[in-house]
Amino acid sequence: MSQNKTPESNNNDASPKATNQQWGGRFSEPTDAFVARFTASVNFDQRLFNQDIDGSIAHATMLAKVGVLTEGEKAQIIEGLEAVRLDIVEGRFEWSEALEDVHMNIEAALTQRIGITGKKLHTGRSRNDQVATDIRLYVRSETDLIAAELKRLQEGLLGLAEREADTIMPGFTHLQTAQPVTFGHHLLAWFEMLKRDASRLQDCRTRLNQSPLGAAALAGTTYPIDRAYTAQLLGFDGPTENSLDSVSDRDFAIEFCAFASILMTHLSRASEELVLWTSAQFNFIDLPDRFCTGSSIMPQKKNPDVPELVRGKTGRVNGHLISLLTLMKSQPLAYNKDNQEDKEPLFDAIDTVKDCLRAFADMIPAITSKKDSMYEAAKRGFSTATDLADYLVRAGVAFRDAHEVVGLSVAYGIECGKDLSEMSLEELQKFSSDIKEDVFEVLTLEGSVAARNHIGGTAPAQVREAVQRARASL
Ligand code: ARG
Repeated sequence: MSQNKTPESNNNDASPKATNQQWGGRFSEPTDAFVARFTASVNFDQRLFNQDIDGSIAHATMLAKVGVLTEGEKAQIIEGLEAVRLDIVEGRFEWSEALEDVHMNIEAALTQRIGITGKKLHTGRSRNDQVATDIRLYVRSETDLIAAELKRLQEGLLGLAEREADTIMPGFTHLQTAQPVTFGHHLLAWFEMLKRDASRLQDCRTRLNQSPLGAAALAGTTYPIDRAYTAQLLGFDGPTENSLDSVSDRDFAIEFCAFASILMTHLSRASEELVLWTSAQFNFIDLPDRFCTGSSIMPQKKNPDVPELVRGKTGRVNGHLISLLTLMKSQPLAYNKDNQEDKEPLFDAIDTVKDCLRAFADMIPAITSKKDSMYEAAKRGFSTATDLADYLVRAGVAFRDAHEVVGLSVAYGIECGKDLSEMSLEELQKFSSDIKEDVFEVLTLEGSVAARNHIGGTAPAQVREAVQRARASL
């Protein structure tokens, strides 16, 4: 009888050869070869092997604690799993598509090593809670690597912002020259975006750090398991509350991808500015050659490929977020095979974010500013027009009237090709008799930025203080 599940019958020929030995009992014909390939996930979920083995060790340890396994069996299982881990790490392990996924590959290898005791590991557990546990552990460890890389980028930004605290550039709205700002201040705006990303990542980590292990297939298990103990062994804050939710929930993957999409959106914005600034038309900064590439036909070209690629990769990460949201949309409880599709988008989002952060963290500190060129650009476009209006207000003119006076002076400047600071006092006084000799102090770029001297303002002194506060917050 094929249902006769003695270890011997399973190791021999009691079930059809191509049917999975871990669930083949009720099947009367082998899995179709295409279906086996179509349903297998081992090609991409093998990267969970460390987490899978850690989870199994915790599970076996708990089973021994509650008396379901003997201490001897536990020791055998742990030793066997560590040997399997070594085989994988050292490249000796042969992954089999017939064994479907990382979980069954490892379990089969364990059984091959230690015999029947290996078959006891899956007591009181299902691949459904197993995979939910593995992915959480994986995202948690990747989260910590990403947080470190994000911090390295933030530190690099602070260093550059400090170096560029006095550098004057045009600030833009609508990509039109608006008011002069310091380059350091602009860089600190990027820092703020990343600060929110780092905090979003930590939020995601906090919520994902609950252990689904013990939910089993969907309803829990009849064995006297200790879920708090496995949670503790795996560094989780505690066990999840509901077994149905535990095996079906992929919020943490969606949240990670939401974090990743927002981060990539920020990096794409910085990338766009870097691309603009390296162009001959802006000529604000220089990226070292090692972050750029040339053209096969135009010998003069030096292209800012790294920021361009980061900008481009934002699209795929946004796509992964949408994939996961759509994957989960309308999914009935509890586990569905659909969920196997969570891995590739999630893994690619993780890989992409890590690469992009690394590229940025390496590149940012190596940026050099072209200060003269930035300064010249800030002088064009009447960037101190607001300063002149504020000057008139201080002299007692109502702001709307001051706005009108300065508007007329700008129109005059456009006509005769002069910046406000290049006009004589007599020329300026044609527009308002309230303009006096001291007006030239506010019309300089240095005066303009220095005057915005409050928390969050662009004054060099404020930039330096903001850098100090940011350092303390890291
Ligand atoms: N490879 C599967 C996944 O990634 C593991 C869980 C399979 N569970 C099942 N009942 N078929 O989702």
